[in-house]
Amino acid sequence: MLADIQGRIGRAMGPLLAACALSLAAAPAWADAGRDLFEAQCAGCHPLSGHSIPDGPSLKGVVWRKIAVLRDFKYSAALKAQVGTWSPQRLNAYLRNTQAFAAGTSMFWTISDADERKAIVRYLESQ
Ligand code: HEC
Repeated sequence: MLADIQGRIGRAMGPLLAACALSLAAAPAWADAGRDLFEAQCAGCHPLSGHSIPDGPSLKGVVWRKIAVLRDFKYSAALKAQVGTWSPQRLNAYLRNTQAFAAGTSMFWTISDADERKAIVRYLESQ
């Protein structure tokens, strides 16, 4: 009787545990993809240290930060004219086509692949 109940619980838990293991494995994969893309595509111009460089503003905490607000970077008038904060949606739009987002912005780098943009934005949310 007891063995029977244990067997049933065991059978019920099996898929559940497998699903947990899968989702645990998937989370770092996302983060790794975002980090690798950031390193390859953005890090040359954008530090995550909190201090900007002449090539680009620091992107530490950029998600939900006010647009073009850092005092240690000289932004274009085009980006400074943008009102509001970097929501994930706006970041995605900027990375898809910087000039369509803010004509005259001094960033010309774009990411055409939607999944890559998503991974980069997710990574930035964690920084
Ligand atoms: C060749 C250099 C360069 C590369 C590569 C680059 N950027 Fe930029 N980025 C800039 C410059 C310059 C600005 C400032 C734009 C302005 O003032 O109009 C900027 C601005 C930004 C801003 C606005 C920051 C703020 O403080 O409002 C974000 C967000 C951003 N970049 C994200 C990225 C991401 C993500 C990548 C990689 C996919 C990337 N950039 C790649 C040069 C670059």
